[in-house]
Amino acid sequence: MILSKIDLSNLRELQPLLSLSAGYQVSIEDELEYFDPEASKSWFLATGSNDEKIGFVRCFRQGSDWSLGELYVDEKCQNRRQIAMSLLNSFTSQIKFDSGHRLRFDIRIRDLELNDAIVACGFSQKQQTFIHFEINVTNAVTKPFHSKPLPSQASKIVETLRFLNHVTESDVLEWMKQDAIRIVSLHASVASAAHVSESEDAIEIVRIATHANFLRRGCASSLISEILQEAFEKKKLRVYLKVEDIRAPAISTYIKSGFKENDLKSQIWHSRWY
Ligand SMILES: CC(C)(COP(=O)(O)OP(=O)(O)OC[C@H]1O[C@@H](n2cnc3c(N)ncnc32)[C@H](O)[C@@H]1OP(=O)(O)O)[C@@H](O)C(=O)NCCC(=O)NCCS
Repeated sequence: MILSKIDLSNLRELQPLLSLSAGYQVSIEDELEYFDPEASKSWFLATGSNDEKIGFVRCFRQGSDWSLGELYVDEKCQNRRQIAMSLLNSFTSQIKFDSGHRLRFDIRIRDLELNDAIVACGFSQKQQTFIHFEINVTNAVTKPFHSKPLPSQASKIVETLRFLNHVTESDVLEWMKQDAIRIVSLHASVASAAHVSESEDAIEIVRIATHANFLRRGCASSLISEILQEAFEKKKLRVYLKVEDIRAPAISTYIKSGFKENDLKSQIWHSRWY
């Protein structure tokens, strides 16, 4: 096995490998657009004895304080753990971050070899397990669809979504501009709110929360029904989301709404701070 650098000259040839890793067709235009000349100094490609491309490691800056790493080794290879460790060690020797920067690798739960390599290379100061839930959109729910918010509700949406994690009013206003917020209102309050993201054939529920004053009144379930109704009207095939395994109320809510776990897509997130 030989390790070499990934750069603009070989990125195009890597397209099949990048697509395998992502699980869908990766466009070279996107690759070129998001190519980061600084971060790419730490990107490595593994090539097998017949010159076949078998794996890579790279990372993309997602914000001022964190980056997302991508590690892939062809599932047909022997010694995947060893190859992953060589890639990670080369990556570590080159990558530079400011102090406090978080680097996260998301690895499929079932991929024991890559999870093991990540831990062995010290990339797992924090581990979170995210379950992938999905539901096929088959028939319409009968309720009318009315879950789009008004701009004046932004601060109430922030208040509700903050029961999940920190969001700001400018985040919410930006998501509203993208038509990506759905709500259920009760007594002039935003009882449940969801941030969604549409792709060609699916809707992802990126975050969802119910305000503490309205828990266990069916608000999240009703919001999910509305998102399913919207998906049906837009001819999407699936609605999906990722939830941390410690969030028991959320897991019960999704199961009750008919979502099923897809363990091929569930992941362990490994984080390391610099
Ligand atoms: C998960 C969450 C959105 C559910 O909101 P909700 O409006 O209270 O949910 P619903 O009232 O629609 O509950 C639907 C069903 O889920 C199950 N459920 C919900 N909360 C539960 C809890 N705390 N314990 C056990 N089961 C629960 C129940 O089966 C419930 O039906 P029931 O009340 O008739 O028994 C809410 O608990 C929340 O905001 N949690 C914090 C944020 C979060 O974890 N978001 C998900 C991140 S992916």
